[in-house]
Amino acid sequence: MTILIIGAAGQLGTELCLRSKERGYKFVGVDYNELDITNESSTMAFVDQVKPTVIINAAAYTAVDRAETDIASAFAVNREGPLYLARSCVKADIPLLHVSTDYVFDGEKSTPYHETDAPNPGGVYGQSKLEGETAVANTLDKFITLRTAWVFSATGQNFVRTILRLAQQRDELSVVADQTGAPTWAGDIAEVLLEIVDRIHQGKAITWGLYHYTGVPVTTWHAFAETICQQAFNLGMLRKKPFIKPISTSEYPTAAKRPQNSALACARIQEELLISQADWRKGLEHVLIQWKKNNELST
Ligand SMILES: NC(=O)c1ccc[n+]([C@@H]2O[C@H](COP(=O)([O-])OP(=O)(O)OC[C@H]3O[C@@H](n4cnc5c(N)ncnc54)[C@H](OP(=O)(O)O)[C@@H]3O)[C@@H](O)[C@H]2O)c1
Repeated sequence: MTILIIGAAGQLGTELCLRSKERGYKFVGVDYNELDITNESSTMAFVDQVKPTVIINAAAYTAVDRAETDIASAFAVNREGPLYLARSCVKADIPLLHVSTDYVFDGEKSTPYHETDAPNPGGVYGQSKLEGETAVANTLDKFITLRTAWVFSATGQNFVRTILRLAQQRDELSVVADQTGAPTWAGDIAEVLLEIVDRIHQGKAITWGLYHYTGVPVTTWHAFAETICQQAFNLGMLRKKPFIKPISTSEYPTAAKRPQNSALACARIQEELLISQADWRKGLEHVLIQWKKNNELST
């Protein structure tokens, strides 16, 4: 078994490589500098050469606001890239595990979104990811598309890093309190994907298709920021907790519209693949402890 991990240097890709290694799996991890998935012929040739038994696509154009003006790049990476990977999977007769986002929804529903709910993205990033999902589903049968949300990890830029940095510099922060969703540790997503790889490897039956997976519990950006500061304070990474002022979406304008509610219902993955949701607060603690150990973002 060889897993080909695309987007290996990103938040999720890094965790996938780390955990594949820990599990003793044979894997090849590549990022943009080694393979540009927007180039069809090099993608096909690369897959031909590596001969993986499964591909995990953790690569994406994730700059949500920049995507509003950098439209062609967002679609190239988020729609064309998955399409070319799906085509190479068809040619090699192997499955593709792909990752998508809560931003495919408009956020106007008051309860969690199911896989059967109609998407209606509010911006370029969400639209490009949705078209990537469709390209995968229309190209091959053996695929899993895992929609997730509010991803954080010890690598890369994310909300946790931003809040901790600001909390170390300021006495007061303002954070949006009227958007709900579920933070998800990249380490937990990686475990989910590798559990699926295990099932494939063991020849267990798999219901292919679209799944939702996020951490629990559902929260707001404001409450997430409170938890980050509390945990960082408990770990001695903050001398004092800042006051976190709850603000509304209209007080924090962004280029791309965010869904007001992006909670994803995750019953299907539990029923079909026996995968339960992890508590993101545990993942958060792992990330903070890792930074503390590495002297990263310490006071
Ligand atoms: N981040 C979130 O909050 C969030 C929320 C919901 C869903 N998701 C989804 O979760 C998945 C993983 O996200 P993440 O946060 O781990 O993303 P990330 O940290 O931004 O990593 C994405 C990786 O893909 C690489 N990449 C970009 N263009 C590429 C190309 N043309 N060919 C090959 N690699 C390319 C990037 O390289 P460069 O850095 O060099 O560009 C980066 O290393 C994505 O599908 C994303 O849409 C993320």
